[in-house]
Amino acid sequence: MIMTKQQEGIKNLVERRGTAVKGGGEKRIEAQHAKGKLTARERLAKLLDPGSFEEFDMFMHHRCTNFGIDASHPDGDGVVTGQGTIDGRLVFVYAQDFTVNGGSLSKTMSEKICKVMDYAIKVGAPVIGLNDSGGARIQEGIDALAGYGEIFERNILSSGVIPQISMILGPCAGGAVYSPALTDFTIMVDKTSYMFLTGPAVVKSVTGEEVTQEELGGASIHASKSGVAHFSADSEDDAISKVKKLLSFIPQNNMQEAPSRPTADPVNRAEDFLNSVIPDNPNKAYDMYGVIRSIVDDGDFFEVHGSYARNIIVGFAHVGGRSVGVVANQPGVLAGVLDINASRKAARFVRFCDAFNIPLLTLVDVPGFLCGTQQEYGAIITNGAKLLYAYGEATVPKVTVTLRKSYGGAHIVMSCKQLRGDINYAWPSANIAVMGAEGAVGILYGKELKAETDPEKQAALAELKKNEYNELFCNPYQAAEKGYIEDVIEPRNTRFRVIRAFEVLAGKRQEVPAKKHDNMPL
Ligand code: HXC
Repeated sequence: MIMTKQQEGIKNLVERRGTAVKGGGEKRIEAQHAKGKLTARERLAKLLDPGSFEEFDMFMHHRCTNFGIDASHPDGDGVVTGQGTIDGRLVFVYAQDFTVNGGSLSKTMSEKICKVMDYAIKVGAPVIGLNDSGGARIQEGIDALAGYGEIFERNILSSGVIPQISMILGPCAGGAVYSPALTDFTIMVDKTSYMFLTGPAVVKSVTGEEVTQEELGGASIHASKSGVAHFSADSEDDAISKVKKLLSFIPQNNMQEAPSRPTADPVNRAEDFLNSVIPDNPNKAYDMYGVIRSIVDDGDFFEVHGSYARNIIVGFAHVGGRSVGVVANQPGVLAGVLDINASRKAARFVRFCDAFNIPLLTLVDVPGFLCGTQQEYGAIITNGAKLLYAYGEATVPKVTVTLRKSYGGAHIVMSCKQLRGDINYAWPSANIAVMGAEGAVGILYGKELKAETDPEKQAALAELKKNEYNELFCNPYQAAEKGYIEDVIEPRNTRFRVIRAFEVLAGKRQEVPAKKHDNMPL
């Protein structure tokens, strides 16, 4: 059959597309599969709604001629970019293709990535980056670095305007980790993804240190030690389902309200176990996750940074159908104390929620800030101030429930009234004071206790003073009498009270003074 010129053109297009989708070729695709990794296109097919992906710039080539790299010009170069939907919501995506020069970033690739980032900010939709890259393409020199600069600048301009999510799906080095660090959430896959400034070979040549990829920057390291990763997934499929779940709590952009979803969970569901959850012994822990799940819709709590700084819990949930960010001290880990890492973790989460109109539910049981040289040398002052700053600047609805301890500076930090907390409740078991009885008696009556040489009498005096202190301060009523909390509530009714509080606050509008930008304690 003789083809018309138009038909020939179409055949040519189909053939070019067929070649382009093979990226670095069959052999490299096989190698990628052998490492337990999917290709860029396979990943996008799983992430996006079926048939929703529209690819941009499939035919762009790199323009480098150094070190013989011009012998190969794969269509699309090392990244697949475009737009699609997830659960019907528009997202922009880029997926680096490790089969093309290890996904290393060329100037062409940066132009493709920047184009989808520009679209995303123009129309107000999230950007999801699928990273699998050796960083700046060495053969391109300064052009590759400039390409990263372009991407970073867009990461920065998009911050707080559209959600940015980074999936780490292979060994990522150099610029391939700095861009994720500028985004809102980073998800790694256990045993197949790595993040480091530079890989083990370069580390050995520079510092002499011998280290594996896993030890240097595996998912478990970044999810638990450095906090660079917000989530660690068991597999690429698990990582994809985590991204979908995360998106279900957050809006498309900073001009939209957080998404709500209908729930059959009764608003007035009372939880009797909450009336006996607090142990008599103030040093004994209890299950804060159980408390959170009892309050939120359907017990569905999506934790962020679950393996890092576990003395504080942060994550998303719905209450009465509304998406909220939950921040809760964890009495089961380091007694729920606020240290450097917990403060940074919670501050970043609070700021994300505030930027994207997600109300904050804070559950307080905090003995104070962790003291000592290790914390002081690590700047607990500056880092603790981050959380203080984050709560104080946040203008989203803020509902706070104090369950037990709320002492000193940590009381102020955890969304107190004076940091523009909107509705603050306390359980009858709450102790809102400058410090616990033990410490207070030591300071107030130290001299008298030292002067008493009989150990029995000394212990009796200390006990007496502790009881006096406890009676005065170890309850929520000092705070309630002075209007520092709105009400003392029965624990079993917490869900209902919290939902009603957020309903009341739904129309909240609060301004901050005009400024170029803030100067938070970084
Ligand atoms: C060009 C690269 C490359 C790069 C990898 N490749 N990284 N090509 N530029 N940056 C190529 C390899 O030559 C190889 O090509 C293919 O990709 C696969 O790489 P392998 O090393 O075989 O894979 P693997 O053993 O899995 O190791 C992956 C890796 C390693 C850990 C990422 O390749 C590595 O350490 N790369 C360099 C990482 C790095 O130091 N990047 C920093 C760049 S500076 P062939 O053809 O042989 O298969 C930077 C600064 C940005 O990014 C600015 C930040 C502020």
